[in-house]
Amino acid sequence: MDLSSPATAMLATDPDRQRRLFGSDGLLPLWIAEPYVQLSPEIQARMRDRADLGWYGYETRPKSVIGSFWSWMQDRHSWRDDSLVTSVSPSIGTSIAVLIEQFTEPGDGVILQPPVFTDFKPLVVRAGRSVVRNSLVLGDEHYDMDLEGLEEAAAHPTTRFMILCNPHNPVGRAWGREELAAVATISAANDVFLLVDEIHADLVLAPHSFVPFAVAAEGSGVRWAATHGPIKTFGLAGVCDTLLITDDEEAADRFRSESSRLHLTRNNVFGVAAFETAYREGGPWLDAFLAAVSDNVQTLRDGLPNDIALVDPQATYLAWLDFRQLGLDVPELASWLAEAGLALSPGHWFGREGAGFARMTIAAPPEMIARAIDLLTKAPR
Ligand SMILES: Cc1ncc(COP(=O)(O)O)c(C=O)c1O
Repeated sequence: MDLSSPATAMLATDPDRQRRLFGSDGLLPLWIAEPYVQLSPEIQARMRDRADLGWYGYETRPKSVIGSFWSWMQDRHSWRDDSLVTSVSPSIGTSIAVLIEQFTEPGDGVILQPPVFTDFKPLVVRAGRSVVRNSLVLGDEHYDMDLEGLEEAAAHPTTRFMILCNPHNPVGRAWGREELAAVATISAANDVFLLVDEIHADLVLAPHSFVPFAVAAEGSGVRWAATHGPIKTFGLAGVCDTLLITDDEEAADRFRSESSRLHLTRNNVFGVAAFETAYREGGPWLDAFLAAVSDNVQTLRDGLPNDIALVDPQATYLAWLDFRQLGLDVPELASWLAEAGLALSPGHWFGREGAGFARMTIAAPPEMIARAIDLLTKAPR
């Protein structure tokens, strides 16, 4: 695997976007959550072959495409598709938007656990539903869920839905079986539908492992659906569809009839090719990639200056950095980072709980991580 040269991180390096978001351009681009390394050569070769066919009309999706996902899940995470319904969805955001629409009414509450992925809140607000915050709690090393707060939030009569991020972007928690089972029990007791976004499932760093919500929730009676797909793991967000998985026949039927009503059914020819190749042939690339991400975590642990702390990354290729010792407010931290020469995602993008933190993508060549440490160390205090 070639980690020596960064892949062209087009959106992250775009000067107009950098100027708009960070006030200047030419910054070291470690903000968008995508791999900035050479992607799987098997997938690239398969897409080249597909391009060479010279025919790009309507494409059917062979059953083997979904089959490739389930063989992968069984091999890597011992998760099987017994009694589960798997549907194709153009994006995670689409799945969430459709299920919110189907399982809640305007004005109902949707629980989020900030700091959390930026798209969730707008999906709730644009649907005319209200966000119910159950903020994560930072302990000595990592974040935990506030399960008492969750019980209270779920018990509120207008709370109908929750979005759980497993593993959690941006704080890098791979939730354990007991925590997930507790969320399932609380949601079941309060009739809250649980959407579990598991798009980072394959990005768990040793010695941690991914626990599928479906497995932890067995026997709880919770109504749930989970999102999956190769878009983050293999850097395929520009081509591939995603999956929606559930054991709930009604949720699957409602999702499928909405997809059909809105005609969300076009299959991208490259997406179909890349999806199956990722899951059938991408294992060795992913192993090397995860090893490289773990090396980058170690480089950060060893090299960060004493006044910047790393929140223990158990999963994702995102490092959640704690700048609170610098004593800067939100705009001051933003200017400090830009003046240091770095484009990181400021923590408050993920909710007010993220103030004083920033998220750094560490799916990058080691030279980029070393450069980031150097810039952070030399920036004036
Ligand atoms: C937790 C999480 N969910 C969803 C997405 C994106 O999904 P989509 O673009 O398919 O809506 C991301 C992208 O970074 C993410 O981190």
